[in-house]
Amino acid sequence: MQHLITTSDFSKEEIIDLFEDAKMFKDLKSNLFLQGKIVVNLFFENSTRTRSAFEIAAKRLGAQVISLDVGQSSRSKGETIFDTIANIEAMKPDALTIRHSECGLPGSLVDHVTCPIINAGDGTHAHPTQALLDLFTILEHFNWDAQGKKVAIVGDVKSSRVAGSNRRLLPRFGMEVVFVAPDCFKYDDADGFKQYTHISEIIDEVDVIMSLRTQLERHNEVYFESLNEYAKDYCITEETLGDRDILLLHPGPVNRNVDISDAMLKDPRCKVLQQVSNGVAVRMAILKKLLG
Ligand code: CP
Repeated sequence: MQHLITTSDFSKEEIIDLFEDAKMFKDLKSNLFLQGKIVVNLFFENSTRTRSAFEIAAKRLGAQVISLDVGQSSRSKGETIFDTIANIEAMKPDALTIRHSECGLPGSLVDHVTCPIINAGDGTHAHPTQALLDLFTILEHFNWDAQGKKVAIVGDVKSSRVAGSNRRLLPRFGMEVVFVAPDCFKYDDADGFKQYTHISEIIDEVDVIMSLRTQLERHNEVYFESLNEYAKDYCITEETLGDRDILLLHPGPVNRNVDISDAMLKDPRCKVLQQVSNGVAVRMAILKKLLG
C-alpha cells in the first residue's frame, strides 16, 4: 500500500504517469474510477482550497466523502489525535487525507492504518499535493519541459511547507529554486540553495515567481510592525515584473496587496486560479493512483 507523505514517496516516473492522468482529468468531468470507495478528510487546520479540492476530486471520481467537522468532533472531549484517527480507521475508509499543524504527524500514522494516508499539509514540513499541482502548472506553462528554468520562491519561506515541498520536488525536474526573503524569513540552513533579500537582485534571471503568504500563525514573535511594511519590499506588483515574461504563482490564500497587488492578480501572467483548477485534476490523479 502506498501513502503520500512527501513528494519523495513518488518516483519521477510515477509523477510523469500521474500527470498523464491529471491531463485526462483536466476537464474535471465526473467518472466512476472510484465508485464504491469512501475518502475521509480530517482537517485539523483551516483550509479552503485543499479540502474542497479533495472533496471535489473524490466525488468527480465517483467516491463518497466524509469530512470530519473537527470543531464538532469528540476531540473537544479530550480524545487524542491518535485515538480519533484509530476510531475513524476502524470504520474502514479507503483513504484518509490529513492536515495538521504538527510536523510529521501524517507520516507517524502510516504503520497504524490499513488504508492510504495523504498528507494535506503538516505544519511547516510538507504539502506534497500543493507542490505536485505547482509542478503540473509550471510544466503545462512551459509545454511540459521546464529543464533549466529558474523559480524564485518569495516571502516567508522558513515557515512555509509549500516552499519545503517545492524545494525538494522542482529540482528533480531540472529546475533551479532560489529564495527571496527578508533575513527573518530566510532559512537558517538553506542546504546549498541561494537566498536573496530583494527580488530586484534576480528579476532578470527568473522564469517563475512563487509568492507566499506571511504565516503569522506560525511565528513566535512579531517581525514587522504591519504587513504593509513587509509589502513595501515583497508585494509582487506590475512594477516588479515590468514587461518580463514571468509566470506568477501563489498557493493561496493570497493576502491582496501584501503578497500580490490587485492589478497583478488580474494580469494574464498570474495563474493562481489555474493552480486551483489544476489542483483538482492532480488530486483526482493522486486518488486514482492510491485507491484505484
Ligand atoms: N494552498 C492551500 O493549502 O490552501 P488552503 O490552506 O486553503 O487549503
